[in-house]
Amino acid sequence: FGRNILVFDETDSTTIRLLEADTPYYTVAVAESQTAGRGRSGRKWISESGVNLCFSVNLPPMKIEHLLPFNIAVGFAVCDVLRSTADVKLKWPNDLMAGGKKLGGILFETSLSGSVTEKVILGIGINVNMTDFPAEIKDIATSLREETGLSYSREELLAELMNRLDAFSEAFLKGSINIGSEWKKYSASLDKKIAVHKNGVKTVFTERGITPSGFLIAEDEKGLITEIVTGDVGYDFS
Ligand code: BTN
Repeated sequence: FGRNILVFDETDSTTIRLLEADTPYYTVAVAESQTAGRGRSGRKWISESGVNLCFSVNLPPMKIEHLLPFNIAVGFAVCDVLRSTADVKLKWPNDLMAGGKKLGGILFETSLSGSVTEKVILGIGINVNMTDFPAEIKDIATSLREETGLSYSREELLAELMNRLDAFSEAFLKGSINIGSEWKKYSASLDKKIAVHKNGVKTVFTERGITPSGFLIAEDEKGLITEIVTGDVGYDFS
């Protein structure tokens, strides 16, 4: 990761830059600020200029069924690095959470060719030294600085993340990461009540972990187990 780095003062989105460019695998694009940062489910990703980390990586193609497990395992690697600063956990599949609020996010964007991905762009956004949050995210977002009262070097964090992601993707490709058992160390909601929203309907479950394919295991009030699969499911801690 990161042998080839593109640095932008301002760009639309580091993910769009890599989707549109022809760059070697593991090229990293990093920006001080993004004018059209993209979040999950078509939402925008807001990040204040100069205090956050926004970067994307151009990954080699992979089978579609590996995308979700890989996605989740990237969350483990990012948590491992951030845990030297604050107690960072994951909200399924890979929201970075601290103090019950969102600290950052991970978003894979792909283009497909049959059952194999053509382009896989991994995008990571982390609120590092952010202290002024726009009104719409004020109650749900946090930063490393908000959690610890300390400022962090974004360059050092980026370098540590690149090293960790290198080691981790090698382990993932060798099949030596068991996401089902590892998840228990990282989940922000294991054995806790979660309110799942799907098509405007809210259902309360207890989170019981994830399957080897990365699906969320949810137990309803009668003890019945459901696997939550689709990307358009959101949940709150209830
Ligand atoms: C989420 O909604 O949780 C995922 C947010 C991902 C944001 C990052 S910032 C770098 C990269 N460029 C984008 O436009 N989005 C991702």
